[in-house]
Amino acid sequence: MYDTIFSRSFNKHEQKKLKYGAFFSCFLIVLSICTVFKPYLGPIHDLNLKLSVGGVGIRMLMLNDTTSSSKIARVEDIVSETAVNDTIKTPQMEEEEEEPEPEPIVCTSESRTDFCEARGDIRVQGSSSSIYVVSPDTKNLSGNTSWSVRPYARKEDLYAMSHVREWSVKPLIKGSQQVPQCSQNHSIPAVLFSTSGYAGNHFHDFTDIIIPLFLTSRKFNGEVQFLITDKRDWWISKYQVYLKKLSNYEPLDIDSEKDQVHCFPSVIVGLKRYQKELSIDPLKYSYSMRDFRDFLRSSYSLKRVKAIRLRDGGHHRKQPRLMIVTRKRTRSFTNTDQIVRMAKNMGFKVVTMEGGGNLSRFAEAVNSCDVLMGVHGAGLTNIVFLPENAIFIQIVPYGGVDWLATNDFGEPSKDMNLKYLEYNIKLEESTLIQQYPLDHEAIKDPPSIWKQGWEAFKTMYLDKQNVNLDVIRFRPTLEKALELLHQ
Ligand SMILES: *[C@@H]1O[C@H](CO)[C@@H](O)[C@H](O)[C@H]1NC(C)=O
Ligand SMILES: *[C@@H]1O[C@H](CO)[C@@H](O)[C@H](O)[C@H]1NC(C)=O
Ligand SMILES: *[C@@H]1O[C@H](CO)[C@@H](O)[C@H](O)[C@H]1NC(C)=O
Ligand SMILES: *[C@@H]1O[C@H](CO)[C@@H](O)[C@H](O)[C@H]1NC(C)=O
Ligand SMILES: *[C@@H]1O[C@H](CO)[C@@H](O)[C@H](O)[C@H]1NC(C)=O
Ligand SMILES: *[C@@H]1O[C@H](CO)[C@@H](O)[C@H](O)[C@H]1NC(C)=O
Repeated sequence: MYDTIFSRSFNKHEQKKLKYGAFFSCFLIVLSICTVFKPYLGPIHDLNLKLSVGGVGIRMLMLNDTTSSSKIARVEDIVSETAVNDTIKTPQMEEEEEEPEPEPIVCTSESRTDFCEARGDIRVQGSSSSIYVVSPDTKNLSGNTSWSVRPYARKEDLYAMSHVREWSVKPLIKGSQQVPQCSQNHSIPAVLFSTSGYAGNHFHDFTDIIIPLFLTSRKFNGEVQFLITDKRDWWISKYQVYLKKLSNYEPLDIDSEKDQVHCFPSVIVGLKRYQKELSIDPLKYSYSMRDFRDFLRSSYSLKRVKAIRLRDGGHHRKQPRLMIVTRKRTRSFTNTDQIVRMAKNMGFKVVTMEGGGNLSRFAEAVNSCDVLMGVHGAGLTNIVFLPENAIFIQIVPYGGVDWLATNDFGEPSKDMNLKYLEYNIKLEESTLIQQYPLDHEAIKDPPSIWKQGWEAFKTMYLDKQNVNLDVIRFRPTLEKALELLHQ
């Protein structure tokens, strides 16, 4: 009998030990060298998430976290009161009484991102990576300080950030000789962000750019100019459909606008982001993951809002659809055919797909499914396209990868209104036992590998491992998925 769906490869005590191991190795990583951080390692950020608690890489800026969040909270309080009480003042009136003019520059430093919002007479000069904020006097601008921002929302990750161009936001007095002439006037706001960092990794694309960009620019309803620094054409074309939905204008490669000065009534440099991966806190922002997913569905013309609902006992006219996300190079299933056969026998219509390629086509395929399963990895980011109430099954490789799995996809999937099942493979299902003797430390003592740092952990458990799924042991998980589709 398989008494639980959430079968684990470790008992509770061992798991706890692993988690402490993970935590400890995080600190080791910080203490040692940042060169261990390499791009395109799906789960790297989790280490950093934990590190950021300790304030690694926090620097600069005008407002500190407490100041900015209290400000945000206040505005939202007013908004929500307005919603329930018609007699109360509007937010605008409130603002007019308290602050005669909005601050020309407001820079916010949060644990995972820095961004500056400037308004008035804004001049963006690509050649000097500068944004000049011209005002009649700079008395209110805290002296002549300028702010530096690397516009990529993973600031605690020094390796990723080292590739991101730094921009400066500088106040200038009107009439000063330093004020550059506008070569193009725009009447809409601009949002400046980088497509460097870990862009190209599907998970990072969404958690570091796509969702933050939604948070930052959705409110403009398309009337916004994207200014892209460290522009990668393939990235822009990969997300073209989405970008076109967010902005009615062609994105500008701002680094290459050498002799040009673009002028705007306002600009946001850098992107807002919520601390958790692939999530939005609806209490902090005026959007939720539901809004984001609605927006994605409408961008990619995805038809299905809700997953299939199976009726008890009845004969189903439609079969539930299962997508198996496959991987070619690492963490691949060695017995995909066997899994497919079992799932078909259970009544699923099965689709297998490898990530990458045409995103629109992938989004449609995922949206057509009711259950998505795959081994932990960036391809699972495609759960964002699943319909509401769909089931997401994450297969967690051997070696204590579960905390990564939980932070990256498990927790986020709940905010997406998906139902989450986790399947931790047993050692016997890992191809590591074909590569190492049973008394090798990688097999019998994963924490000892963790202590060697991120690279060692990644190489052993994320790169060298494939999964030979025990379909008999896994079957109850798929049965649970079917059962959940009845609710
Ligand atoms: C930051 O917050 C502290 C209190 O936590 C406050 O004393 C300080 O003035 C703040 N700094 C700025 C620049 O707002
Ligand atoms: C509405 O606002 C008025 C005055 O601002 C206040 O007296 C009243 O209690 C409020 N009603 C509700 C339902 O909040
Ligand atoms: C700017 O400074 C002037 C004079 O010091 C003051 O009257 C005004 O209220 C300030 N504006 C803001 C937005 O702080
Ligand atoms: C600010 O800059 C202006 C010229 O840009 C200069 O005249 C003024 O002295 C500076 N003020 C301070 C406090 O540095
Ligand atoms: C931009 O606007 C300013 C102020 O309205 C004007 O002086 C300038 O000639 C305009 N520049 C261009 C290139 O249209
Ligand atoms: C991607 O697929 C969609 C249909 O799913 C198609 O309309 C589009 O042309 C494709 N894009 C590319 C670049 O092949």
